[in-house]
Amino acid sequence: MEKTLSIIKPDGVKKGVIGEVINRFENNGLRVVAVKMLWMDKKEAEGFYDVHKDKGFYDSLTDFMSSGPAVVMVLEGENAIAKNRQIMGATNPANAEEGTIRKEFASGIERNIVHGSDSPETATFEISYFFNALEIFDY
Ligand code: CMP
Repeated sequence: MEKTLSIIKPDGVKKGVIGEVINRFENNGLRVVAVKMLWMDKKEAEGFYDVHKDKGFYDSLTDFMSSGPAVVMVLEGENAIAKNRQIMGATNPANAEEGTIRKEFASGIERNIVHGSDSPETATFEISYFFNALEIFDY
């Protein structure tokens, strides 16, 4: 069993698709083992996306991620990292496959509804950024 971090970004929360997104995870073998809603400030968003700090989109991305509440979750399942990425679709919704979350709901590469960890190392960092051991459940 593998764990991955998922975020329903502020655009997903504002569009009212929290339930729709979680349904897709649960219907495809991913279990929600931790969940909370939070509103990141600019510094918290910058820390989360530190790996992108040299990219041209960093300032805009971290403004967007601190523009409203987000839902952060830990998903667990077999090959959870890859499975989550498949369910989300490509980062740029223009390249996302039919039936994926981003194809159906995202309005652009920045406002792309969801985030998911891209490797086991990233998942470890990202999960610990938002959750401590007492907030992640084994059931
Ligand atoms: P996410 O999976 O959260 O990881 C980093 C985010 O940066 C990505 O989704 C996009 O929202 C954003 N991003 C990646 N590439 C670009 C880009 N070229 N322009 C704007 N935003 C980008």
